[in-house]
Amino acid sequence: MSKKGVMGDFSVQPRTANTGATIWTVACDVDDLAPDRPLGIRLAETAICLVRTAGEVFAVHDECTHGAVPLSDGEVDGCTIECWLHGSRFDLRSGEALGPPATEPVRTFPVRVISGVVSVDIG
Ligand code: FES
Repeated sequence: MSKKGVMGDFSVQPRTANTGATIWTVACDVDDLAPDRPLGIRLAETAICLVRTAGEVFAVHDECTHGAVPLSDGEVDGCTIECWLHGSRFDLRSGEALGPPATEPVRTFPVRVISGVVSVDIG
């Protein structure tokens, strides 16, 4: 079933595929995130890499799709993060792998910031 035309709604109020419920998990205060410095955390057994950059907060799976090392040990450049081991770069907005050796995208998660509190929908 196509979701074309409603994806914008999901980016504002994401819903899980199975229940339709929005599940926000509090991650940290936004002030805990230094600009352009990735932070690796675990939320409900899921490794998350949080990045505050370009006036937004992004969350991606904290595991490079090439070699399963933490992306939170990598470097941020604009809205991308570079894996420290072999240099693959990922788009923080889409998860797309922008350069080899990684070819698979990294999973991204919806983020909201309310009153300085960062929450992630880990689905
Ligand atoms: S482990 Fe990340 S690019 Fe190889």
